[in-house]
Amino acid sequence: MDDTVVVTEAGGVMEIRFNRPDKKNALTRAMYEAVSAALERADAEPTIRVALLTGTGDAFTSGNDVTDFQDRGAGRGPRGGSRFLPVIASFHKPLIAAVNGAAIGVGTTMLLHCDLILAARSARFVMPFTSLGLIPEAASTLLVPRLLGHQRASALLLLGEPLDAATACTWGLVNRVVDDTALMPEAHDTARRLAALPPQAVRLTKRLLKHGAPDVADRIAEEIGWFTERLASPEAQEAFAAFMEKRKPDFSRFD
Ligand code: COA
Repeated sequence: MDDTVVVTEAGGVMEIRFNRPDKKNALTRAMYEAVSAALERADAEPTIRVALLTGTGDAFTSGNDVTDFQDRGAGRGPRGGSRFLPVIASFHKPLIAAVNGAAIGVGTTMLLHCDLILAARSARFVMPFTSLGLIPEAASTLLVPRLLGHQRASALLLLGEPLDAATACTWGLVNRVVDDTALMPEAHDTARRLAALPPQAVRLTKRLLKHGAPDVADRIAEEIGWFTERLASPEAQEAFAAFMEKRKPDFSRFD
């Protein structure tokens, strides 16, 4: 049985764990499907009050599986993220992320749709879309400048500069930084506190906090259009091949 996403439920909290540590929890199509299905079930199931995302090992997730990107760019198979992004963006209940290590690409952009984010001290955040010949997704082109301002958004999304946990907290991308060993106890404590609150008041408050949602859905759709084009581009294909071959990409031939 595929255990690349592990879903557990206790005390009104659904924990969804990316579980492919040998590949730094890189997200395959099957994993996107499993996470999307779990979130949909959490939304529909009255006994679930809160969902919690985390990863096994030293990475939260290294983002989309680059092999899947290569396949998609070559016209093979659907892109898993296109179901996942609208599902996470429209999730009605509180969503907590416990970021246990590297959060790359969609590993960071999915956090823009979480409500409370705890980061281990060893966590770091990178959105290397341009260096992969891609454009950012998950409405990050809207939400990162809205959250951090244009200049910081440019450093993160144009240059792909990494952010350490302490800076991410100072900038407001995460709520709290805790010692690595304290991450899961603290995250579950936060989840339990939320799960004990009146559920309707919590859901309505989240809905009001997310009042800008229509433009988020539009931006997700617009980005997916560009993203799909970029996947097939020679620039992106060179970047994916370089990653898989563990070499530096060469973009000098592109104008
Ligand atoms: N897709 C496919 N495979 C991936 C992957 C991804 N997104 N991220 C990591 N892997 C694989 C590596 O190819 C390697 O496989 P191997 O053991 O068969 O050689 C294995 O996972 C371990 O990764 P490695 O790079 O050796 O670990 P590290 O500790 O040196 O670095 C990361 C960890 C997460 C910093 C690094 O793997 C990374 O930057 N990944 C790229 C992420 C990326 O570009 N994602 C797309 C974002 S849009």
